[in-house]
Amino acid sequence: MTEADATLNAAIPEAGLGERQATEDMTALLDFSSPHSRFRSLTESGGYLVPMEGMAMQFDRESIEFVLHNPELFSSRIDLGLGNVRPLIPLNVDPPQHSNFRRLLDPLFSPKKMTAYEPDIARRANTLIDTFIDNGGCNFSDDFADVLPSTIFLDLTGLPEERLDEFLHLRDGILHPEKHDELAAFDPEVRTRVLFGTGEKIYALFTELINERRRQPGDDVISQFLAAEVDGARLTHDEILDILFLFLIAGLDTVSDTLTCMYAFLARNPDHRKQIVNDPDCLDNAVEEMLRWEAPVPFSSPRSATQDVTLPNGCPVTAGSMVLCAYGSANVDPTEYPDAHEVRFDRTRNRHITFGMGPHRCLGSHLARRELRVTLREWHRRIPEYWLTPGHEDLVYPPGLRHVKDLMLSW
Ligand code: HEM
Repeated sequence: MTEADATLNAAIPEAGLGERQATEDMTALLDFSSPHSRFRSLTESGGYLVPMEGMAMQFDRESIEFVLHNPELFSSRIDLGLGNVRPLIPLNVDPPQHSNFRRLLDPLFSPKKMTAYEPDIARRANTLIDTFIDNGGCNFSDDFADVLPSTIFLDLTGLPEERLDEFLHLRDGILHPEKHDELAAFDPEVRTRVLFGTGEKIYALFTELINERRRQPGDDVISQFLAAEVDGARLTHDEILDILFLFLIAGLDTVSDTLTCMYAFLARNPDHRKQIVNDPDCLDNAVEEMLRWEAPVPFSSPRSATQDVTLPNGCPVTAGSMVLCAYGSANVDPTEYPDAHEVRFDRTRNRHITFGMGPHRCLGSHLARRELRVTLREWHRRIPEYWLTPGHEDLVYPPGLRHVKDLMLSW
């Protein structure tokens, strides 16, 4: 049984006739390889799916905007069960407390601050390319995508690159527990054991780091968290721990996954790749368009309804139910984009919601954008022509965040 099947079985214990349709829809939804036509049919056929009592998934733009913009109706204060023992900050905090955290964190991740990282990102991308360019090919997922964002994360937190494997191991313990123990793919007890065992190690490691930076501050984000102040208030030790725990989950995998989706797209669509090579000025638009199309984070973190409410698409939601929003589907909603199913690098109006929307909009989007733009610029300057390695054309998009496993490229 695959992890997708296990998720599905947990979600839909006994499928009756009506439920069977939902089961089929869910099975299709957990196949992340090319979700766009399913998004279209789900949006056209009502815009929502209720796979089980107490859970509603949203697919049309209007309802998704409604959920994400109304945190008083849809609370984010949910235990995500990711090995954490307290709510993750700021993801699992509701306004108004949430706004205090964002006022403190936003300036540390502002566009200006993140632009200063661009030369460093370029240097790191080139150093990685140096390691395999003469081989005429690479496992892009392992050799490049997995490594680059993580070394940047280490640098942000003031840690040496030698600790990369340790961090990737901790990240995997939360996001890919089956890599620690393959039984975790289908045995919830094993999964929980791996998650919480890893969680303990993450808390211990960050506690040590926070204490170290308290004694000897540097110019890393942990030192900045310790010094940051809003209205005279500072972050507590536990609050910094809860922010760092989220960073490890949100900052390491998302950019890696996005890179694999984008390079898979470009390797399969040489005309788009050539546009980037021939006109590097189109890069910013190209990145936004691929973010819209690939939408690596398939669903929002769950929201819990604080009262009975009917969504714009007619979906009835009872108090206490969970609501999930499909970002990728909102990104191809025809009410927002008349030509939503065309990938156009000359698109100028592009209000995609790949980084979410509303108060919980991604804190790291300015950093992520720079990582993606700089990487694509440097790569296409040095490796303008590449393709899927023969024999590896069937791409695997495992469950979790959308990503391509073992994306083999040749040039
Ligand atoms: C392409 C890469 C990325 C994508 C697609 C992405 C996507 C998202 C999305 C969709 C959300 C909203 C979740 C929700 O409302 O349920 C989010 C939140 C968040 N992201 Fe990102 N993210 C990326 C990179 C990053 C990076 C590099 C960092 C760290 C520096 C980061 C830190 C965060 C944080 C802290 C939040 C929570 C914000 C809040 O609750 O106020 N993300 N991200």
